[in-house]
Amino acid sequence: MNKLETEYIHIDENQIDENAIEHAGQILAGGGLVAFPTETVYGLGGNALDASAAKRIYAAKGRPSDNPLIVHISEPEQLDEVAIDIPESARKLSDQFWPGPLTMVLRKAASIPDATTGGLSTVAVRCPSCNIARELIRHSGCPVAAPSANRSGRPSTTRFSHVREDLDGLADLIIDGGDAVIGLESTIVDLTADPPAILRPGFITREQLADVLGDVASEAPSLDDDSSAPKAPGMKYRHYAPNGDLYLVKGQRGDVVRYINKLAKSAEGEGKSIGIIAATDTKERYRYGKVFDIGDRGDDEAIASSLYDTLRQLDTIGADVIYAEYLTNGRIGAAIENRLLKASAYHVLSAPVPMQSSRRKKLLFVEGHGNARSAMAAALFERMYEGSDIDVFSRGIVVQFSEPLNQKTEAVMISNGITVEGFSSVQLDDAEIDQDTILFALEERQRQQLIARFPSANDGNTYLLSAYVGDELEIMDPYGGSLQTYAICFETLRTSIQKMCDRILEEKTYA
Ligand code: TXA
Ligand code: MG
Repeated sequence: MNKLETEYIHIDENQIDENAIEHAGQILAGGGLVAFPTETVYGLGGNALDASAAKRIYAAKGRPSDNPLIVHISEPEQLDEVAIDIPESARKLSDQFWPGPLTMVLRKAASIPDATTGGLSTVAVRCPSCNIARELIRHSGCPVAAPSANRSGRPSTTRFSHVREDLDGLADLIIDGGDAVIGLESTIVDLTADPPAILRPGFITREQLADVLGDVASEAPSLDDDSSAPKAPGMKYRHYAPNGDLYLVKGQRGDVVRYINKLAKSAEGEGKSIGIIAATDTKERYRYGKVFDIGDRGDDEAIASSLYDTLRQLDTIGADVIYAEYLTNGRIGAAIENRLLKASAYHVLSAPVPMQSSRRKKLLFVEGHGNARSAMAAALFERMYEGSDIDVFSRGIVVQFSEPLNQKTEAVMISNGITVEGFSSVQLDDAEIDQDTILFALEERQRQQLIARFPSANDGNTYLLSAYVGDELEIMDPYGGSLQTYAICFETLRTSIQKMCDRILEEKTYA
């Protein structure tokens, strides 16, 4: 298709510029293509009564022409111009949800050319609530056929920048109307089926439709639907997809984080560029790749509105592999799930549940006096370890009398947000080293001392932290050093303990 010079205008939904919208309407009336915002996603519009406009839309999107377009109207009453045999249920849904993010499939009127409906005898109709969209349709003087304003197979467009990225040189005019509020395409309900069937879940939920319609069926979307007459032909194509391979990871929060970290680590080891889609509360827990915060876990509307933008950003950074938390809770969770499944081509992984050891394990960090490095290590482990099956303590090799936390140690811990109440150092007692106890020394010299002095400590249960996590350097003794020396010690420990937690969990999970 020949590239054309695309015109751009900005329109403020709260203060619509009459001249600008009239100009845009005239382009549609004249057979041209206008990309415009709606409350769901941006649409690429053309005159729905004009077969050649429909063909231009297919060409601009690179869309197979058997995938029908949604016909947009500015007033609910306009429905009678585009559909026939309109059942009572459609009137009820229109009263309840129009203008708004609901599309109804009905028998098509003769005025709608086959090109618009991909040869189907039905037509999908929607009256959007976005004022720019409605004013545009009014000024065009015709119903407006508009699929989502993205190149076929790419994620739908929810920001002006997305539309420009996909359709510059392909649409006659692109209207910048800000961000789409909902961010997922409309709910599609087929009213020619009995009972009515949801062909695509969206912001209007199955429950809301059932309140009006009674019985509602959901058509399970299938990627490999190659039956000759699929109900919503769009469902047979891989949709909404980023360029990289997207995997959804299901399971308990902590298990999901661990598993994604493991997968990401090994994919990164193969030289792949990794993207991770995470909720706000877990995003800090990923240590590989580039992490994208998709919103609060409990805020389905926020997740919906940033989903496509996030998928597009993953393309921008060139992610080869993407791991996404399976975030499908809330009122519109079903719609989010549907889009994630399609974007991932149904690649869903279940995070393995770590094996719970039958006995609780005891982990002792041991150093000379037991009130500095070992105390930091124990506190860090307690915070970072995600299981609840290990008890962790700090011990001294020689504790003549109990001491509080070393002062600089305490200062560094507090400045890192860790407070330890009523700490008092404890002498390691050989009797507490049972078969479920593991000892960690911070220097090889002290590990040797432990094994020499405590009959129950041996090579099998007494480890050097740096060796266990594969680090070259031991954790140096900060004693006598400045506050900064202690701070460096703390940071070194933080890194080591993180690796230690990973290794423990990996051993437990993949044993
Ligand atoms: O929110 C939306 O619906 C957006 C905005 C622009 O309004 N539009 C949109 O259009 O998502 P599109 O073309 O990307 O998706 C329309 C879906 C396709 O899966 C298509 O196969 C299906 O609706 N569809 C259209 N006409 C149909 C019909 N007569 N019967 C069954 N499915 C139909
Ligand atoms: Mg689409």
